[in-house]
Amino acid sequence: MKPDHALVCLQPGPHASLVSQALPQPRLGRHQVLVRVTATSINPIDTKRAQGYGRRLLGLIGAGGNAVVLGNDFAGHVVAVGPQATPYKVGDQVYGVLPTGRAGGAHKSTLVADARYLRPLPKDLDPAAASVLPYTFCTLWQAFSGLGLDANRVKDQHILVHGGSGALGQMAIQVLAQWGGHVTATCSAAHADLCRSLGAETVVDRHQTRITELPAHFDVTLNFGSWSDDAQLVTRLRHGAIGHATTVHPLMSELDQHGWLRGLLRLLSQWRHMRKLVKEKGPQTRYAWVLFKPSPDALDTLAELLRQDHIHLDIAMRVPFSKARRAFQHVANGSPQRAVLLPNA
Ligand SMILES: NC(=O)c1ccc[n+]([C@@H]2O[C@H](COP(=O)([O-])OP(=O)(O)OC[C@H]3O[C@@H](n4cnc5c(N)ncnc54)[C@H](OP(=O)(O)O)[C@@H]3O)[C@@H](O)[C@H]2O)c1
Repeated sequence: MKPDHALVCLQPGPHASLVSQALPQPRLGRHQVLVRVTATSINPIDTKRAQGYGRRLLGLIGAGGNAVVLGNDFAGHVVAVGPQATPYKVGDQVYGVLPTGRAGGAHKSTLVADARYLRPLPKDLDPAAASVLPYTFCTLWQAFSGLGLDANRVKDQHILVHGGSGALGQMAIQVLAQWGGHVTATCSAAHADLCRSLGAETVVDRHQTRITELPAHFDVTLNFGSWSDDAQLVTRLRHGAIGHATTVHPLMSELDQHGWLRGLLRLLSQWRHMRKLVKEKGPQTRYAWVLFKPSPDALDTLAELLRQDHIHLDIAMRVPFSKARRAFQHVANGSPQRAVLLPNA
């Protein structure tokens, strides 16, 4: 067996490199589990962080610097268990997610995970297929929580998913359709059939139809596509709508580009402008800037959806760390299919 190692991103920025480095012996806390990683996925945030994105805000929580281990989600098997890391035992197959922080990411051959953010791998589920889900699902969950959406609230509502063919969009379509919502998705023409197959009732080619040409009848709008479309998406909400959530807000980029003071002032101004537009739709209409956060509730819901075979994302490539650069490029290109690293292959 190879010694423990991590894929380290050196000098995040235009000249970043990805190198495999030996890992120090991990120390296990009471509620933690040591996992030997079978598969760990690459999300768009990893490709952006490799370019230096988010360095100010993430630096504040110890996730910046000149040598970072990226990645949040993974699947593998348990090799050691802290005294209170119930209900896991050595040999269990699991999948899970790491928060972004000082301890570094999931692109490792062996990692330490909080038992709250692990779930048993369903029997017969490919570990790689599980490893592409938790980060994106926890983010989607934050979007839903920000708007107060659950299965009861979504039923019979009209929801516009902008960026429907990306990982967030695909998961949103699957969950919202499953909960009885009427989903309209925007994407490129090449991905229209994919969005339809996942449950979108209407699919709009974003290169042919302007957002302002869509009906202004939506109860919810979700922006997973582009910040520059945020204001136009809000105009498509009906009066008295539930609200709008966006994962593509400029929180990190403004701080990166303009520093703390100027960046915060610019963010405040943009937030206020958007909130005002949203509030014109109704005093109860909500507006949410979404930030990924691991959530036991999200992971429970994901586990249930997996049990019912109601959620999946396709994987285009599975590669060892030595081919990581190609896999990062694939994700940076915005493909509907994810790429997965196999650290112990
Ligand atoms: N705030 C957070 O904590 C958080 C967490 C997760 C993700 N995110 C961000 O949310 C976004 C979506 O994530 P994801 O994982 O779904 O990404 P993804 O899998 O890379 O998919 C993004 C999709 O958006 C579409 N797109 C690209 N440019 C667009 C544009 N200008 N306007 C509208 N659609 C566009 C593309 O599909 P088509 O070509 O088919 O249109 C692309 O496949 C990313 O920017 C990601 O960084 C933020």
